Amino acid sequence: MKFFLDTANLDEIREAAALGVLDGVTTNPTLLSKQVGGDDFKKILKQVCDVVKGPVCAEVVSEDAEGMVREAKELAGIDEHIVIKIPMVRNGLKAIGKLSGEGLATAATLVFSPSQALLAARAGAAYVIPFIGRLEDASHYGTDLVVDIVDIFDNYDFETEVMVASVRSPLQVVEVAMAGADIVTVPPKVIDQMITHPMTEAGVKRFLEDWQKLGAKI
Ligand code: E4P
Repeated sequence: MKFFLDTANLDEIREAAALGVLDGVTTNPTLLSKQVGGDDFKKILKQVCDVVKGPVCAEVVSEDAEGMVREAKELAGIDEHIVIKIPMVRNGLKAIGKLSGEGLATAATLVFSPSQALLAARAGAAYVIPFIGRLEDASHYGTDLVVDIVDIFDNYDFETEVMVASVRSPLQVVEVAMAGADIVTVPPKVIDQMITHPMTEAGVKRFLEDWQKLGAKI
């Protein structure tokens, strides 16, 4: 499974790259708005692409298909690694079909049902992005959605990759990995939680204390 970082913060992206687990980055209008100088979003996205050297998702904000296509081309001009995120609405589907036909990589975002994922894949989206945390906020079990989408895509050998988003915990990462998701995009906090285990910390502490008793150097 590939790991993407769900942030537009360069320091967080550099740290994840240093951990050796960074395959890509997802941004959205909210994440970009949190960055100082977020109005210079093109500069930020270019810097992110230079660090990641892999897919970096940037989202359109128009609501009509023509506007989405125009913005998508503008965003795609920033760097070869930009993937265009398009909300999975009627006009978004039209834009995905048009852009995919022209060879641009698109990601259908804000996916909350298997039928939305099926249509996005059929229209040629390179990725579908189910938001499992927001589903769970609304009392639906998020992993069920991922299981269904993976099953459907397997049935038809769709090349569209399932990128699970809106992830809030390590347990969700494990569940969607078991379900066969291609990619998970996580906030930095979840990577920290995945790394940390109290028994690992305690084990390191004890080993270091015992080594000090030995008084030797490696
Ligand atoms: C994914 O691409 C989105 O940017 C993100 O995962 C949304 O997460 P949230 O529900 O925590 O805002």
